[in-house]
Amino acid sequence: MLPTAVKFAPSILACDFTRLGTEIEAVSSAEYLHIDVMDGLFVPNISFGLPILEAVRRSRDALGAGQVIDVHLMIERPERYLEAFAAAGADSLSVHVEATPHVHRCVQTIRELGRRAGVVLNPGTALETLRPLLEGVDLVLIMSVNPGFGGQSFLPQTYERVRTVRRWLDDLGSPAELQVDGGVTAAHVRPLTEAGASVLVAGSSVFGSGGAAGLERLRAALR
Ligand code: DX5
Ligand code: ZN
Repeated sequence: MLPTAVKFAPSILACDFTRLGTEIEAVSSAEYLHIDVMDGLFVPNISFGLPILEAVRRSRDALGAGQVIDVHLMIERPERYLEAFAAAGADSLSVHVEATPHVHRCVQTIRELGRRAGVVLNPGTALETLRPLLEGVDLVLIMSVNPGFGGQSFLPQTYERVRTVRRWLDDLGSPAELQVDGGVTAAHVRPLTEAGASVLVAGSSVFGSGGAAGLERLRAALR
């Protein structure tokens, strides 16, 4: 894959919520908008939920921007809320394999709701758990930090995990996106892309670093 094909997903967890619409406008050239939903159970933090997602959706639509609204559910038993998040504006819904015994059913439900279905793995979860799911998903997300907080350091073992999943997807001829999330800075962009990632999530290195300017610095790392 050409390194220039990589897409960016600014995570609004790191934005200034008093200026949500302006922050979204600043990254209107991004391919995705990443929405981190945390319930205080699956992860030791609570972020935001449906009303913020609805506001993001309204801002995106008002701007006429094309960002995919990419919802990362860090909640226990995500099957309880898939319909609600789809109705609130998610284009893509990703569920953790660790959060439910029914991850395959979640993927089916998301597809039935007409949304893109993603599965997510924590850094400590065996990659093999993905194998039975790969054929039915639109996105695989490999966490490069333990989920729950922005601003953590990128775990270097992620590279090998990304290479393995890239090989599996290519062997299947799968067009699924391979996303990486957590601690991504400009220094990681090229090596992650070379390992086979196709979508990079970034919170602090976008919104904590000037918004549009932060996004541009990440893109510049590919040139
Ligand atoms: C972590 C979240 C990430 C986080 C990324 O639990 O899933 O999306 O917001 O933020 P940074 O880029 O600051 O690690
Ligand atoms: Zn995330």
